[in-house]
Amino acid sequence: MTKEIELKDRIIVALDVDQREKAQAVVKACESHIGFFKVGLQLFMADYFNTVDWILDRGHKVMLDLKFFDIPETVKLAVEQVNDRGVSLATIHGNDPIIRAAIEVRGDLKLLAVTVLTSFGEEDMRSMGMTGTIAELVMFRARRALELGCDGVVASGLEAQALRTELGSRLLIVTPGIRPGPNVKTDDDQIRVVTAGEAVRSGADHVVVGRPITRAKDPIQVIESMQAEIVGQK
Ligand code: C5P
Repeated sequence: MTKEIELKDRIIVALDVDQREKAQAVVKACESHIGFFKVGLQLFMADYFNTVDWILDRGHKVMLDLKFFDIPETVKLAVEQVNDRGVSLATIHGNDPIIRAAIEVRGDLKLLAVTVLTSFGEEDMRSMGMTGTIAELVMFRARRALELGCDGVVASGLEAQALRTELGSRLLIVTPGIRPGPNVKTDDDQIRVVTAGEAVRSGADHVVVGRPITRAKDPIQVIESMQAEIVGQK
């Protein structure tokens, strides 16, 4: 592990809720242990930048996960709306024109290219008539993202190791699709899942965790156990 990242910033808690009050409750429940929160499409649609600003005012970091995918000019204009507001990480889709447009106007933001969604499996690839493997597609997109000037990628824990080995330490790797316990089969939409410890051991800088923490009876207990795994793997 080459980058010095504080333990409280390793897990980015995904605030996938429909109201500001619910998001604030999750932040308050986790903030003794967590300093990084992700605002995604649902909360952003419900609340625009209000929760983002509230989290930043409390001294925490924000990942804004809106996965911009549009014509380059629209992406450029959208990135300009996120610049210089204190957001640490923002996501865009990992294809060349989108990345180029976003990079051109990036201010203080770190841009992450989404390689392949962690809910997307090999079967989905086949059914879309795509050849090759997910691992190859992830590597191809991550390499392009880095060449074009992206700060990092969003990639599953299954590909993190190959990305780290092939592309070096400069690339920031953020890994969603985290589930507690080894070989856990999930009954939700995530397919390419690993544990927090496995992700970090494979080279992820941050893990994104939503439901396993936000729907837990005792979120702090889940966080502590994931952080213990992460410390063990650093
Ligand atoms: O609840 P769960 O832990 O599955 O939440 C994962 C979060 O990470 C969600 O907010 C989802 O939008 C996000 N994400 C993902 N896969 C990606 C990029 C982001 O699951 N490739």
